[in-house]
Amino acid sequence: LRHLLTLDGLPKAILTEILDIAAPFTEVAEREVKKLPLLRGKSVFNVFFENSTRTRTTFEIAAKRLSADVINLNVSTSSTSKGETLLDTVDNLCAMGADMFVMRHASSGAPYLLAQHLRNTGRDHISVVNAGDGRHAHPTQGLLDMYTIRHYKQDFTRLTVAIVGDVLHSRVARSEIAALTTLGVPEVRVIAPKTLLPTDVERMGVRVFHNMEEGLKGVDVVMMLRLQNERMSGALLPSSGEYFKFYGLTEEKLALAAKDAIVLHPGPMNRGVEIDSAVADGDHAVILPQVTFGIAVRMAVMSMLAAGN
Ligand code: CP
Repeated sequence: LRHLLTLDGLPKAILTEILDIAAPFTEVAEREVKKLPLLRGKSVFNVFFENSTRTRTTFEIAAKRLSADVINLNVSTSSTSKGETLLDTVDNLCAMGADMFVMRHASSGAPYLLAQHLRNTGRDHISVVNAGDGRHAHPTQGLLDMYTIRHYKQDFTRLTVAIVGDVLHSRVARSEIAALTTLGVPEVRVIAPKTLLPTDVERMGVRVFHNMEEGLKGVDVVMMLRLQNERMSGALLPSSGEYFKFYGLTEEKLALAAKDAIVLHPGPMNRGVEIDSAVADGDHAVILPQVTFGIAVRMAVMSMLAAGN
Protein backbone atom coordinates (compact mmCIF):
# COMPACT_ATOMS: atom_id res chain seq x y z
CA LEU A 1 0.00 0.00 0.00
CA ARG A 2 1.72 3.21 -1.18
CA HIS A 3 -1.33 5.48 -1.10
CA LEU A 4 -4.85 5.22 0.32
CA LEU A 5 -7.12 6.86 -2.24
CA THR A 6 -10.26 4.74 -2.17
CA LEU A 7 -11.71 1.58 -0.63
CA ASP A 8 -13.10 0.46 -4.00
CA GLY A 9 -11.28 -2.65 -5.07
CA LEU A 10 -9.29 -3.04 -1.85
CA PRO A 11 -9.40 -6.73 -0.97
CA LYS A 12 -11.08 -7.98 2.18
CA ALA A 13 -7.70 -9.13 3.54
CA ILE A 14 -6.30 -5.58 3.44
CA LEU A 15 -9.43 -4.01 4.96
CA THR A 16 -9.35 -6.58 7.74
CA GLU A 17 -5.62 -6.07 8.27
CA ILE A 18 -6.11 -2.32 8.71
CA LEU A 19 -8.86 -2.92 11.29
CA ASP A 20 -6.69 -5.50 13.08
CA ILE A 21 -3.69 -3.16 13.16
CA ALA A 22 -5.93 -0.36 14.50
CA ALA A 23 -7.15 -2.45 17.44
CA PRO A 24 -4.08 -2.10 19.71
CA PHE A 25 -3.74 1.56 18.68
CA THR A 26 -7.00 2.36 20.47
CA GLU A 27 -5.01 2.28 23.73
CA VAL A 28 -2.64 4.90 22.33
CA ALA A 29 -5.56 6.88 20.92
CA GLU A 30 -7.19 6.87 24.35
CA ARG A 31 -3.86 7.85 25.92
CA GLU A 32 -3.50 4.71 28.01
CA VAL A 33 -0.19 4.09 26.27
CA LYS A 34 2.40 6.77 25.39
CA LYS A 35 3.51 7.71 21.89
CA LEU A 36 4.91 5.11 19.50
CA PRO A 37 8.01 5.81 17.36
CA LEU A 38 6.68 4.37 14.09
CA LEU A 39 6.72 7.71 12.21
CA ARG A 40 9.67 9.30 14.01
CA GLY A 41 11.59 11.53 11.60
CA LYS A 42 8.70 11.64 9.11
CA SER A 43 6.84 14.80 8.11
CA VAL A 44 3.09 14.56 7.55
CA PHE A 45 1.49 17.48 5.71
CA ASN A 46 -2.25 18.01 6.27
CA VAL A 47 -3.45 19.85 3.18
CA PHE A 48 -7.18 20.55 3.50
CA PHE A 49 -8.81 22.56 0.73
CA GLU A 50 -12.22 22.03 2.39
CA ASN A 51 -13.24 22.58 5.99
CA SER A 52 -12.92 19.82 8.54
CA THR A 53 -13.15 19.31 12.27
CA ARG A 54 -12.87 15.55 12.83
CA THR A 55 -10.73 14.32 9.95
CA ARG A 56 -8.03 16.98 10.06
CA THR A 57 -7.74 16.95 13.84
CA THR A 58 -7.72 13.17 14.24
CA PHE A 59 -5.10 12.82 11.48
CA GLU A 60 -2.98 15.33 13.38
CA ILE A 61 -3.45 13.49 16.68
CA ALA A 62 -2.78 10.13 15.02
CA ALA A 63 0.42 11.35 13.37
CA LYS A 64 1.63 12.92 16.63
CA ARG A 65 0.91 9.72 18.59
CA LEU A 66 3.15 7.99 16.03
CA SER A 67 5.87 10.62 16.69
CA ALA A 68 5.67 12.30 13.26
CA ASP A 69 6.22 15.99 12.66
CA VAL A 70 2.85 17.39 11.57
CA ILE A 71 2.45 20.45 9.41
CA ASN A 72 -1.06 21.83 8.85
CA LEU A 73 -1.22 23.99 5.74
CA ASN A 74 -3.77 26.71 6.30
CA VAL A 75 -5.11 26.81 2.76
CA SER A 76 -7.19 29.96 3.24
CA THR A 77 -4.07 31.95 4.16
CA SER A 78 -1.70 30.10 1.82
CA SER A 79 -0.44 31.35 -1.52
CA THR A 80 -3.07 29.30 -3.37
CA SER A 81 -5.19 32.43 -2.87
CA LYS A 82 -2.62 34.28 -5.03
CA GLY A 83 -3.10 31.85 -7.91
CA GLU A 84 -0.50 29.18 -7.12
CA THR A 85 -1.58 25.85 -8.56
CA LEU A 86 -2.17 22.71 -6.51
CA LEU A 87 0.86 21.00 -8.04
CA ASP A 88 3.15 24.00 -7.54
CA THR A 89 2.01 24.11 -3.91
CA VAL A 90 2.75 20.40 -3.59
CA ASP A 91 6.20 20.77 -5.18
CA ASN A 92 7.05 23.41 -2.60
CA LEU A 93 5.85 21.23 0.28
CA CYS A 94 7.95 18.37 -1.13
CA ALA A 95 10.94 20.71 -1.08
CA MET A 96 10.24 21.16 2.65
CA GLY A 97 10.65 17.41 3.16
CA ALA A 98 7.12 15.98 3.06
CA ASP A 99 6.90 12.21 3.53
CA MET A 100 3.11 11.98 3.49
CA PHE A 101 0.25 14.15 2.31
CA VAL A 102 -3.20 13.95 3.85
CA MET A 103 -5.40 15.76 1.37
CA ARG A 104 -9.01 16.91 1.31
CA HIS A 105 -10.30 18.61 -1.80
CA ALA A 106 -13.68 19.63 -3.22
CA SER A 107 -12.78 18.08 -6.59
CA SER A 108 -13.24 14.35 -7.00
CA GLY A 109 -9.91 12.89 -8.06
CA ALA A 110 -7.60 15.58 -6.66
CA PRO A 111 -5.64 13.10 -4.48
CA TYR A 112 -5.20 10.87 -7.56
CA LEU A 113 -3.73 13.84 -9.44
CA LEU A 114 -1.35 14.38 -6.53
CA ALA A 115 -0.30 10.71 -6.42
CA GLN A 116 0.23 10.67 -10.19
CA HIS A 117 2.29 13.88 -10.01
CA LEU A 118 4.50 12.38 -7.30
CA ARG A 119 5.04 9.29 -9.46
CA ASN A 120 5.78 11.37 -12.57
CA THR A 121 8.33 13.47 -10.72
CA GLY A 122 10.19 10.54 -9.17
CA ARG A 123 8.83 11.05 -5.66
CA ASP A 124 7.27 7.62 -5.32
CA HIS A 125 8.35 7.36 -1.69
CA ILE A 126 5.82 10.05 -0.65
CA SER A 127 2.39 8.69 0.34
CA VAL A 128 -0.99 10.28 -0.24
CA VAL A 129 -4.02 9.69 1.97
CA ASN A 130 -7.35 10.82 0.62
CA ALA A 131 -9.15 12.68 3.41
CA GLY A 132 -12.23 13.22 1.23
CA ASP A 133 -12.42 14.22 -2.44
CA GLY A 134 -15.60 15.78 -3.76
CA ARG A 135 -18.40 13.26 -3.78
CA HIS A 136 -16.03 10.42 -4.66
CA ALA A 137 -14.44 8.81 -1.58
CA HIS A 138 -13.55 9.23 2.08
CA PRO A 139 -11.66 6.01 2.72
CA THR A 140 -10.54 6.57 6.32
CA GLN A 141 -14.12 7.50 7.29
CA GLY A 142 -15.27 4.25 5.69
CA LEU A 143 -12.61 2.36 7.64
CA LEU A 144 -13.40 3.94 10.99
CA ASP A 145 -17.08 3.19 10.42
CA MET A 146 -16.16 -0.47 9.77
CA TYR A 147 -14.03 -0.48 12.90
CA THR A 148 -16.97 0.89 14.89
CA ILE A 149 -19.38 -1.68 13.48
CA ARG A 150 -16.98 -4.54 14.16
CA HIS A 151 -16.40 -3.27 17.71
CA TYR A 152 -20.12 -3.37 18.55
CA LYS A 153 -21.38 -6.16 16.28
CA GLN A 154 -18.31 -8.40 15.71
CA ASP A 155 -19.52 -10.36 12.65
CA PHE A 156 -20.19 -8.46 9.40
CA THR A 157 -21.77 -11.52 7.78
CA ARG A 158 -24.82 -11.47 10.04
CA LEU A 159 -25.79 -7.82 9.63
CA THR A 160 -28.38 -5.75 7.85
CA VAL A 161 -27.09 -2.19 7.46
CA ALA A 162 -29.05 0.88 6.35
CA ILE A 163 -27.41 4.05 4.99
CA VAL A 164 -29.89 6.91 5.19
CA GLY A 165 -29.95 10.26 3.43
CA ASP A 166 -28.05 12.16 0.79
CA VAL A 167 -26.22 9.29 -0.93
CA LEU A 168 -25.95 11.24 -4.18
CA HIS A 169 -23.48 13.82 -2.87
CA SER A 170 -21.84 11.64 -0.23
CA ARG A 171 -18.26 10.43 -0.52
CA VAL A 172 -18.79 8.76 2.87
CA ALA A 173 -21.65 6.61 1.53
CA ARG A 174 -19.55 5.41 -1.41
CA SER A 175 -16.69 4.37 0.86
CA GLU A 176 -19.08 2.73 3.33
CA ILE A 177 -20.87 0.74 0.61
CA ALA A 178 -17.54 -0.43 -0.85
CA ALA A 179 -16.28 -1.59 2.55
CA LEU A 180 -19.53 -3.17 3.75
CA THR A 181 -19.92 -5.24 0.59
CA THR A 182 -16.26 -6.31 0.59
CA LEU A 183 -16.47 -7.34 4.25
CA GLY A 184 -19.44 -9.58 3.50
CA VAL A 185 -22.47 -7.71 4.86
CA PRO A 186 -25.33 -9.66 3.23
CA GLU A 187 -27.79 -6.76 3.01
CA VAL A 188 -26.82 -3.12 2.59
CA ARG A 189 -29.84 -0.84 2.24
CA VAL A 190 -29.92 2.75 1.15
CA ILE A 191 -32.87 4.88 2.22
CA ALA A 192 -33.34 8.17 0.38
CA PRO A 193 -35.62 10.11 -1.92
CA LYS A 194 -34.99 9.50 -5.63
CA THR A 195 -33.50 12.98 -5.98
CA LEU A 196 -30.73 12.14 -3.50
CA LEU A 197 -29.67 8.84 -5.07
CA PRO A 198 -27.21 8.33 -7.92
CA THR A 199 -28.86 7.12 -11.13
CA ASP A 200 -26.67 3.99 -11.06
CA VAL A 201 -27.52 3.14 -7.43
CA GLU A 202 -28.75 -0.35 -8.37
CA ARG A 203 -25.25 -1.16 -9.60
CA MET A 204 -23.81 -0.43 -6.16
CA GLY A 205 -25.04 -3.78 -4.81
CA VAL A 206 -27.54 -2.24 -2.39
CA ARG A 207 -31.28 -2.54 -1.75
CA VAL A 208 -33.06 0.76 -2.31
CA PHE A 209 -35.88 2.09 -0.12
CA HIS A 210 -37.61 5.42 -0.51
CA ASN A 211 -39.77 4.90 2.57
CA MET A 212 -37.70 5.25 5.75
CA GLU A 213 -40.06 3.22 7.96
CA GLU A 214 -39.89 0.29 5.51
CA GLY A 215 -36.13 0.52 5.13
CA LEU A 216 -35.38 0.60 8.85
CA LYS A 217 -37.33 -2.55 9.70
CA GLY A 218 -35.06 -4.97 11.55
CA VAL A 219 -31.74 -3.31 10.67
CA ASP A 220 -28.74 -3.81 12.96
CA VAL A 221 -26.85 -0.69 11.96
CA VAL A 222 -28.18 2.72 10.91
CA MET A 223 -25.64 4.99 9.20
CA MET A 224 -26.97 8.53 8.86
CA LEU A 225 -25.76 11.05 6.30
CA ARG A 226 -25.83 14.83 6.31
CA LEU A 227 -27.51 16.78 3.53
CA GLN A 228 -24.45 17.96 1.57
CA ASN A 229 -25.92 21.38 0.78
CA GLU A 230 -22.55 22.66 -0.39
CA ARG A 231 -22.65 20.21 -3.31
CA MET A 232 -26.28 20.86 -4.31
CA SER A 233 -27.76 23.19 -6.85
CA GLY A 234 -30.76 25.27 -5.73
CA ALA A 235 -33.23 22.94 -7.46
CA LEU A 236 -32.15 19.95 -5.38
CA LEU A 237 -32.13 21.64 -1.98
CA PRO A 238 -34.95 20.14 0.10
CA SER A 239 -36.44 22.20 2.92
CA SER A 240 -35.01 20.96 6.19
CA GLY A 241 -38.47 20.65 7.83
CA GLU A 242 -39.82 18.54 4.99
CA TYR A 243 -36.67 16.43 4.91
CA PHE A 244 -36.79 15.76 8.66
CA LYS A 245 -40.41 14.65 8.42
CA PHE A 246 -39.62 11.92 5.89
CA TYR A 247 -35.93 11.11 6.43
CA GLY A 248 -35.02 12.43 9.87
CA LEU A 249 -34.12 9.72 12.39
CA THR A 250 -36.40 9.98 15.41
CA GLU A 251 -36.85 7.60 18.35
CA GLU A 252 -40.14 6.47 16.81
CA LYS A 253 -38.49 5.50 13.52
CA LEU A 254 -35.48 3.93 15.25
CA ALA A 255 -37.87 1.69 17.21
CA LEU A 256 -38.48 -0.16 13.90
CA ALA A 257 -34.83 -1.27 13.77
CA ALA A 258 -33.43 -4.19 15.80
CA LYS A 259 -33.63 -3.65 19.57
CA ASP A 260 -29.85 -3.43 19.84
CA ALA A 261 -29.31 -1.38 16.69
CA ILE A 262 -26.47 1.11 16.66
CA VAL A 263 -26.60 4.55 15.05
CA LEU A 264 -23.57 6.04 13.30
CA HIS A 265 -23.07 9.50 11.83
CA PRO A 266 -19.82 10.73 10.27
CA GLY A 267 -20.42 14.29 11.42
CA PRO A 268 -20.97 17.15 11.23
CA MET A 269 -24.54 16.49 12.37
CA ASN A 270 -27.40 18.77 11.58
CA ARG A 271 -29.75 18.17 14.48
CA GLY A 272 -33.38 18.46 13.53
CA VAL A 273 -32.55 17.93 9.84
CA GLU A 274 -31.32 14.33 9.45
CA ILE A 275 -31.26 13.32 13.12
CA ASP A 276 -33.23 14.19 16.23
CA SER A 277 -31.25 15.14 19.34
CA ALA A 278 -32.95 12.39 21.33
CA VAL A 279 -31.34 9.84 18.97
CA ALA A 280 -28.02 11.65 18.54
CA ASP A 281 -27.54 11.73 22.31
CA GLY A 282 -29.39 8.47 23.01
CA ASP A 283 -28.30 4.97 24.02
CA HIS A 284 -28.09 3.61 20.46
CA ALA A 285 -25.75 6.34 19.19
CA VAL A 286 -22.05 5.46 18.78
CA ILE A 287 -21.20 8.74 17.11
CA LEU A 288 -18.54 9.94 19.54
CA PRO A 289 -16.85 6.52 19.80
CA GLN A 290 -16.58 6.71 15.98
CA VAL A 291 -14.43 9.81 16.39
CA THR A 292 -12.11 8.17 18.93
CA PHE A 293 -11.78 5.01 16.83
CA GLY A 294 -10.89 7.31 13.94
CA ILE A 295 -7.60 8.16 15.64
CA ALA A 296 -6.62 4.48 15.90
CA VAL A 297 -7.70 3.71 12.34
CA ARG A 298 -5.72 6.68 10.99
CA MET A 299 -2.70 5.57 13.02
CA ALA A 300 -3.03 2.14 11.39
CA VAL A 301 -3.25 3.59 7.88
CA MET A 302 -0.32 5.95 8.34
CA SER A 303 1.91 3.32 9.95
CA MET A 304 1.15 0.86 7.13
CA LEU A 305 1.91 3.46 4.47
CA ALA A 306 5.12 4.53 6.22
CA ALA A 307 6.23 0.91 6.36
CA GLY A 308 5.47 0.55 2.65
CA ASN A 309 3.10 -2.22 3.71
N1 CP B 1 -16.59 13.04 8.98
C1 CP B 1 -15.90 14.11 8.53
O1 CP B 1 -15.27 14.06 7.47
O2 CP B 1 -15.95 15.19 9.35
P1 CP B 1 -15.13 16.53 9.11
O3 CP B 1 -15.70 17.18 7.89
O4 CP B 1 -15.32 17.35 10.36
O5 CP B 1 -13.70 16.15 8.89
